[in-house]
Amino acid sequence: MSLDDVLARIDADLPAATDRLLDLLRIPSISTDPAFKADCDRAADWLVADLKALGVDASKRPTPGHPMVVGHVGNANNSGAPHLLFYGHYDVQPVDPLDLWDRDPFDPEVQDTPKGPVIRGRGAADDKGQLMTFIEALRAWKAVKGDWPCRITFFLEGEEESGSPSLVPFMKENADELKTDIALICDTGLFESKTPAIVTMLRGLLGEEVTVTAPKFDLHSGMYGGIAMNPIRVLSKIIASLHDDTGRITVPGFYDGVPELSDALEAQWQGLAFDHATFLGDVGLSEPAGEQGRTPLEMIWSRPTCDVNGIWGGYTGAGFKTVLPSKAHAKISFRLVGTQDPDAIRENFRKMVTEALPVDCTVEFAPHGSGPASGADTSDPMFEAARQALSNEWNIPAAYIGCGGSIPIAGYFQDILGTEPMLIGFGKDDDAIHSPNEKYDMESFHKGIRSWARILDALT
Ligand code: BES
Ligand code: MN
Ligand code: MN
Repeated sequence: MSLDDVLARIDADLPAATDRLLDLLRIPSISTDPAFKADCDRAADWLVADLKALGVDASKRPTPGHPMVVGHVGNANNSGAPHLLFYGHYDVQPVDPLDLWDRDPFDPEVQDTPKGPVIRGRGAADDKGQLMTFIEALRAWKAVKGDWPCRITFFLEGEEESGSPSLVPFMKENADELKTDIALICDTGLFESKTPAIVTMLRGLLGEEVTVTAPKFDLHSGMYGGIAMNPIRVLSKIIASLHDDTGRITVPGFYDGVPELSDALEAQWQGLAFDHATFLGDVGLSEPAGEQGRTPLEMIWSRPTCDVNGIWGGYTGAGFKTVLPSKAHAKISFRLVGTQDPDAIRENFRKMVTEALPVDCTVEFAPHGSGPASGADTSDPMFEAARQALSNEWNIPAAYIGCGGSIPIAGYFQDILGTEPMLIGFGKDDDAIHSPNEKYDMESFHKGIRSWARILDALT
């Protein structure tokens, strides 16, 4: 039985595969919100059951947070073939603002759109649809060939969207079980929504929540306005000072460890001819707003950033209230590159904010997740083999690209297990991940499954 038989089986099984994905999408496994803890557990159970039905020796593994799903197939004496690990995450982001969804985020359906059929629902693209592409490829392989392509370990996480608090301890405790020849991670996208891609550079992430307090309770802004310190004014001024006029970030020492792009990468990225006008135009923007003198691809892949993700304080409800607030809050995140040190940046950021406080103000900081940037070493021939397999499926040469998002586990595979991460995914720029009306194109799902079958064939 040949690869073509496996691909034909995938084509024939697509409706059933879609039904299985819809079933998984109905489980509201929002990892960051404790109200959905039982649902995260249910999603893990669903995956264990599905893997077991496929013949995988799978189990739900408890952590202090949400469970991991680990599974194994094949054995060590598969001569010559590599031992692969497959990683995906079954947790999803919260759905708010709910009123902007066209339907219940956890009542998914296949919809016809002018651009073709899509699977609509929270987690369709990030990351349930993507993780099922691999499982479905293996299901077809097993059905057609009666055996596994090689030894494979499954590692499915339920805390990715909330900073993976249990991940590092779990990987350390189970290092022997999780160590493989390569880690396939399906949590990224195509390049410009049409070119297959392997991500070789990921940005790191650092989150901080800042609360500035001035008066000890909210005041009448007529009685106190003018004489009382306003913490929203104080925090706004600090936030405004985090970038200079050229778009550079002003936190002391921030650029320590930020490398310049190598000539080789610069040439390669120029070859990608990124169309930033379309990329921005699709979301209602026109001009790149990053550091002056940097190309659009540098801005999203290889330069660090500072963004305010949320800001609140005082009265934000309906109508109007003349309040002089006691507190002002902001959630601020940094995307990191190269060898930028998250801990050092957190410390320098806190020092900078604290030193900028006027009299009568106090500040509190709450840390959110952090992880350094990471990259993949593509010198292992498995990378070229996978790239060729992707090119064959999509009829466009697959590209090595960067990714502005963060997948901390990629670096952990290297540092904790000594395993190189190979990041391959089929998401599109307009999938609206983390946003209302998230979708995954049926093309992504179908060709994603076919891509994995080709990659498994090429690697074994
Ligand atoms: N799948 C994304 C990462 C991603 C984003 C890949 C965009 C390709 C394009 C992942 O689930 C994610 O959202 N990561 C978070 C970090 C996490 C700690 C919340 C991110 O990048 O913000
Ligand atoms: Mn993801
Ligand atoms: Mn995500």
